[in-house]
Amino acid sequence: MRHFLSILDLKPSEAEQLVYRAKEIKEKRWQGDILKGKVLALIFEKSSTRTRVSFEVGIKHLGGETIFMTPRDCQLGRSEPLKDTARVLSRYVNGLIVRTFEQEKLEVLASYGSIPVINALTDMFHPCQVMSDLLTIFERTPDYSKLKIAWIGDGNNMAHSWINAAIYFPFQLNIACPKGYEPDPEILSGALNMGAKIFCTNDPKEAVEGVDYINTDVWASMGQEQEAEIRQEKFSAFQVNSELLKLAKKDVKIMHCLPAHRGEEITEEVLEGPNSIVWDQAENRLHMQKAILEWVYS
Ligand code: CP
Ligand code: NVA
Repeated sequence: MRHFLSILDLKPSEAEQLVYRAKEIKEKRWQGDILKGKVLALIFEKSSTRTRVSFEVGIKHLGGETIFMTPRDCQLGRSEPLKDTARVLSRYVNGLIVRTFEQEKLEVLASYGSIPVINALTDMFHPCQVMSDLLTIFERTPDYSKLKIAWIGDGNNMAHSWINAAIYFPFQLNIACPKGYEPDPEILSGALNMGAKIFCTNDPKEAVEGVDYINTDVWASMGQEQEAEIRQEKFSAFQVNSELLKLAKKDVKIMHCLPAHRGEEITEEVLEGPNSIVWDQAENRLHMQKAILEWVYS
C-alpha cells in the first residue's frame, strides 16, 4: 500500500514518471475506472478551493466517490483521537485525502489506518501542488537540468516541497526569504546532502538573477493569520513586482499556487501580466492528482 505524504514518498524515477503520465492524462483528457467502487474521504481542517475541487473532480473522472468532511462535521472537532478515526474510517472508505496543520497527523493516520493517505497540504509540505507545478514547467521547458527556479518569500510548506523536488529534479533552486523566515534547516540540509542544487539568500534580487521561473506564495499561510501584520513589514522587500522581474530572464514565467494577495507578495500587474502562468498551474492540479491517484491505487 502506498501513501503520498511528501514528494520523497516517490522514488526518483517515479517522480519523473508522474510528470510524463500527468502530461499524457491531460492531453488525452483521460477518464477511467481505476477507482470504481471506491470511496475516498477528504478531511480538510483548513479552507480550500483548488485542492478540494480538483481532487473531487479527479476522483469522479476515475470512477470513484468522495465524502468531504471538516472537523465540524465529525468527532475530530470534539477531540476524538486521530488514531481512532484512522482505524474506524479504514473500515468504511478506501483512502484519506487530508489537509491539516502538523505533518505528524498524517503519519498517525497512515500508521494506524490500513488505507492510503494523501497529503492535501500541511504546515510542512504541499506535495500535490509542487508536483503539479513541475508539470506546468515541463510543458514549457522539458529539460529541467537547464533551469533556474527562484522561490521568493516565506520558507513555508511550498518552499519545503520545492526543496524536496530539487532532490529528484536537476534544476537550480534559488531561495530568498527574510531573516528568520528561512526554510526548515533539516529539510534543507537533507536535500543538500542528497545532491540538490539549492542556493539560499536573504536578498530577493540575488535569487532572481537570470532565472527562468519565479515562484511566490502568501506571506502568512493558513494558521498564521495573527502574524499577518508583522509579516507584511518583514516581507515588504520580497514582493514579486515588475522591478524584480527585470533581473530575471526576459521571458521569465511567474508562478503562484494561489490564492494570491495582490499588492502583498505579488502585484496585480505581474499576476495578470503576460509572464504569469498561474491559471495553467491551477488547471494542472487536476491532471497531476489523477496521476498521483493512479500511482497510489494501481
Ligand atoms: N493552491 C492551493 O492548494 O489552493 P487551495 O487552498 O484553494 O486548495
Ligand atoms: N502556504 C499557503 C499555501 C496555500 C495553498 C498556506 O499554507 O496557506
